[in-house]
Amino acid sequence: MSNRLSRRDFTKITAVASASSAFSSVHVLGANNRIRLGFIAVGNRGDQVLDAFLTHKDAEVVAICDLYQPYMDFAAKKIGSSPKQLKDYRRLLEMKDIDAVVINTPDHWHALQTIHACQAGKDVYVEKPLSLCVTEGRKMVDAARQHQRVIQVGIQRRSAHFCREAAEFVRSGGIGKITAVRAFHIQNEWPKGIGNPPDETEPSDFDWDNWLGPAPKVPYNKNRSFYRFRWFYDYSGGQLTNFGVHYMDTIHWALGHDAPLAVTAMGGKLAIEDNREIPDTLEVLWMFPGGTLVTFSQFNASAPPAGLRNGEIEFRGTKGTLYLQNNGYEVVPDALTANEILARKPINRANERGWRMGAKPMIEPKKVEGQGDMAAQATASHTRNFLDCIRSRQQCNCDIEIGHRSTSSTLIGNIAYKTKSYLEWDGKNERFTNSPTANKYLTYEYRAPYKLPS
Ligand SMILES: NC(=O)c1ccc[n+]([C@@H]2O[C@H](COP(=O)([O-])OP(=O)(O)OC[C@H]3O[C@@H](n4cnc5c(N)ncnc54)[C@H](O)[C@@H]3O)[C@@H](O)[C@H]2O)c1
Repeated sequence: MSNRLSRRDFTKITAVASASSAFSSVHVLGANNRIRLGFIAVGNRGDQVLDAFLTHKDAEVVAICDLYQPYMDFAAKKIGSSPKQLKDYRRLLEMKDIDAVVINTPDHWHALQTIHACQAGKDVYVEKPLSLCVTEGRKMVDAARQHQRVIQVGIQRRSAHFCREAAEFVRSGGIGKITAVRAFHIQNEWPKGIGNPPDETEPSDFDWDNWLGPAPKVPYNKNRSFYRFRWFYDYSGGQLTNFGVHYMDTIHWALGHDAPLAVTAMGGKLAIEDNREIPDTLEVLWMFPGGTLVTFSQFNASAPPAGLRNGEIEFRGTKGTLYLQNNGYEVVPDALTANEILARKPINRANERGWRMGAKPMIEPKKVEGQGDMAAQATASHTRNFLDCIRSRQQCNCDIEIGHRSTSSTLIGNIAYKTKSYLEWDGKNERFTNSPTANKYLTYEYRAPYKLPS
């Protein structure tokens, strides 16, 4: 049986989804009911999120869906209770005995599957980045609100205790006024990167057309599919949205703003000669309200800094710096204010260099370090929060509006890079005010018969 999607099929699923929505939105779970989950995609991240949900005894995975049978076999074995196996997510959404779905597909599928799930009356845990373009994200928010769905976006740091503490400390003025934030992700892929495999015929057991979904039809290339899709713009915003959205989300949280005023970017494929489309080196700058300059550096063709940290955010305040890493944070006070420095009498160069030594810091130093696998712990808390919110009908720690805003800030960085521009952003209306050309990148044309619901 073919899994390909005909126009008639597509209309039918939307109709079924809308009909069941009226039924499901009034269904409230009791404390003793187990929450029944359907997984859409059980690849790399799907497997990690599955591990997290399997630790929660008040949930059960009743169905799984993936285009790749070996991944489904692996997941089914792990789940153990013979979940229904499907290759078409629309069949999974039709199942009346599913309360919520967990979407772990590549980014270009997130919008359609989330909106269809909302229409079908399912609550949704959807992986980051929320969408491939800003318009998709806004429509996802609208669908969630219209169908009164609980949505958790998979930016799991929102549920990490140390991130909350750090964000609240910065936000409450703990290191003074924040004038600059520097975030970076470094993963040295030099010299060969992801290689340069030729286009080829798709494997006989893999439905490439269905994997592409709304994306343009192109010949199968190994690098464009499993995991490596993140190096291609048809399916991903590259490492800026892949890793950058985690950082940007914490930056929004700590600054108390959910959109920048302006953005610009520069970069390129400077050292790696593989078939990736995204830059191997990229620098993005945003100006945030209140006067905070934020930069994100994506360095995939250079060595990491000393200490082997490959990712970090530095919040630079007038009283000190907060370094946030994936397992904790550190507050380093600045010893003197600029005025105090100027008031001192420099005697010679040596003294000048020693200005800060021995001076009284304006804030206390602090170091918080987590134990064990912090990423897995954050995902466990994040999935727990989703299940709790399904019962309480409260908004999740990373509600869809939050996930959309954080994703949008990274997506517009890519637009600045692609259009080589300095762009002014109207966060309220989600439009650029100084570039009609850049506004065209806020949406993209789906391949027929796929259609972004309006
Ligand atoms: N929160 C995090 O820390 C984190 C970490 C890694 C990945 N992710 C996100 O998870 C998503 C998936 O990334 P990945 O690394 O797991 O990719 P992957 O290629 O390993 O897995 C994607 C899976 O989706 C399946 N798939 C594709 N189209 C489908 C469809 N129409 N229906 C059903 N299944 C389909 C594929 O067969 C594959 O098994 C991405 O959006 C990525 O950004 C999040």
